[in-house]
Amino acid sequence: MALALSRRFSSVFALLHCTMLAGAVPFAGGRWKLAQEGNTGVSAMQLAVVSETKATIFDKVEANPLQMNGRPVWPAEVDLPSRTVRDLIANTWCATGSFLSNGTFVHSAGNPFVNISQSDIGPDGRQAIRMFTPCTDASCDIIEDAQRLRLTSRRCYASSARLVDGTIFIFGGSTDNAFINNVTINYPSFEFFPPKNINGFNGLQIPTQFMEDTVKGNHFPYTNTEVQLPRIPNGVRISSPFSASAVLLPLTQANNFTPEIMICGGSVVDDTLENQYSSQTPASAQCARLVLTPAGIATGWKVESMPQPRPMVGLILLPDGRVLAVNEAQTDVAGYDSTFDPVGLESNTDKPALTDAV
Ligand SMILES: *[C@@H]1O[C@H](CO)[C@@H](O)[C@H](O)[C@H]1NC(C)=O
Ligand SMILES: *[C@@H]1O[C@H](CO)[C@@H](O)[C@H](O)[C@H]1NC(C)=O
Ligand SMILES: *[C@@H]1O[C@H](CO)[C@@H](O)[C@H](O)[C@H]1NC(C)=O
Repeated sequence: MALALSRRFSSVFALLHCTMLAGAVPFAGGRWKLAQEGNTGVSAMQLAVVSETKATIFDKVEANPLQMNGRPVWPAEVDLPSRTVRDLIANTWCATGSFLSNGTFVHSAGNPFVNISQSDIGPDGRQAIRMFTPCTDASCDIIEDAQRLRLTSRRCYASSARLVDGTIFIFGGSTDNAFINNVTINYPSFEFFPPKNINGFNGLQIPTQFMEDTVKGNHFPYTNTEVQLPRIPNGVRISSPFSASAVLLPLTQANNFTPEIMICGGSVVDDTLENQYSSQTPASAQCARLVLTPAGIATGWKVESMPQPRPMVGLILLPDGRVLAVNEAQTDVAGYDSTFDPVGLESNTDKPALTDAV
């Protein structure tokens, strides 16, 4: 249970340089200046703006420098106007999150039990469903009660998405933590939250052949079982541990609410290397867009390029319909402590990518 403790940010400033992606709509150009006015104390592994004044950050269970209630903070609620942090509790490395249409954030799956030290213990989060309904008075916590609310089985590295009926589709993953998925731990199925009775499965997991066919490159999967999409161009791999980012571009009257997805980053490296990956693995600068209609799928992917390669780029939809590509590095693979040449003690990442783009 998180207490309403909070901590003032310290002030630092950083510059963010922005350049336009080739072929992007010509909005006002120039340089941005990002005023980074504080420090959340936890790494923004999973960041969501959950209301007009609050953001949540879900970090891995780590010995983070920010301590509250006698232990390090992992998930945190950030109050944007006051720049204060409140701690929440969950073990969410390799989890996934989506909003229900009623505004409640549903975060599911996660990491096995972690025991860093006596005061730094993360409960087994693999089968968890965590509900967070944003509030303005610091009264809301993550609701996680494995006795009453849980996935049909353990999942690490699942994906989720909100469906048109306002429910959430939770898809794939492994039953255990691993750098790359394999047949022993693959969990080739999907489910819904709230649960649905589809084809008589009555809330149980529904098997998917796609997740059988794509092991082992299917952590955080990007696809559906109905239509096989054309291959990502130029041999770019986008699933973990190459972990590209994807967005559904804005559905507008101007585009007649036609769904178009864009996937940026990833890597062209061989995915059969098992544990021989390097922190110097080059990333891809590719952004590929596909219109999800029969005609669009027949036309295929449209390829653009970011100014710098970055596998796990953050893609953020801006209010004016543009997409900000931010953060990450020019060489790496996902995870930590899984390369033969780590940077520092455990980092799989090197060469920060400092040229952000819209
Ligand atoms: C949204 O729906 C979920 C699932 O039915 C429910 O548990 C949650 O309390 C609802 N949130 C709000 C804000 O009503
Ligand atoms: C966590 O590990 C410590 C040793 O570092 C041990 O003393 C403690 O019993 C463990 N706690 C649990 C809940 O396993
Ligand atoms: C699958 O991965 C798990 C976790 O890393 C490992 O224990 C298991 O041996 C692997 N199985 C195969 C068939 O590679």
